[in-house]
Amino acid sequence: MPGLTLGDTVPNLEVETTHGKMWLHNYLGNSFTILFSHPGDFTPVCTTELGKMAAYERQFAEKGVKLMGLSCNDLQSHNEWIKDIEAYTPGSVVRYPIIADPNREIIKQLNMAEPEEKDPSGNQVPSRALHIVGPDKKIKLSFLYPASTGRNMDEVLRVVESLKKASEHKVATPVDWKPGEPVVISPSVSDQEAKKMFPQGFETVDLPSKKGYLRFTQVD
Ligand code: BEZ
Repeated sequence: MPGLTLGDTVPNLEVETTHGKMWLHNYLGNSFTILFSHPGDFTPVCTTELGKMAAYERQFAEKGVKLMGLSCNDLQSHNEWIKDIEAYTPGSVVRYPIIADPNREIIKQLNMAEPEEKDPSGNQVPSRALHIVGPDKKIKLSFLYPASTGRNMDEVLRVVESLKKASEHKVATPVDWKPGEPVVISPSVSDQEAKKMFPQGFETVDLPSKKGYLRFTQVD
């Protein structure tokens, strides 16, 4: 069976977290949520990643984005480890919940299992998976990194901005786009519609095909 992927609804699982037991859909609510797994507590790359996520939490919250971590350790381990995370990244406070999945059930249902890496007891561990879930509880974007490669939190922030722009306007973000830069108008929008939708105007790039499909505009 193919795993959870873009466009799929996140299953409404009951999860044990550092903030108590909850139903996933209740936590997701109507916000964007970053649901991210990591191979294990008290491991080096994960400690750096979760600290950075905590340091960026306010920036995500300002954009209306919630965070939720997951690894296959128990709650006691998570709570002990949080002290290390906060000590390693000065100024970080881990305010987001971390799911405890010691039986490795949730990682399978969320397509977060790492095929190669095992923990010291030979158990399967989660990959560095990161799903950005939309207000409709569907997966809008996924990263799937192996245990050996830490994620780039600036890239996570950047793609959140891109997803929000695309959900608010009929636009997409071009290569290497950064917040504040021009966006492109979706190909499904005709020039006539674009004139109404983007009264600030747009610029069509003159390409050899003369098809007029590369149109830049600026949206706030
Ligand atoms: C880490 O977080 O450093 C890590 C975890 C599992 C395998 C490799 C690295």
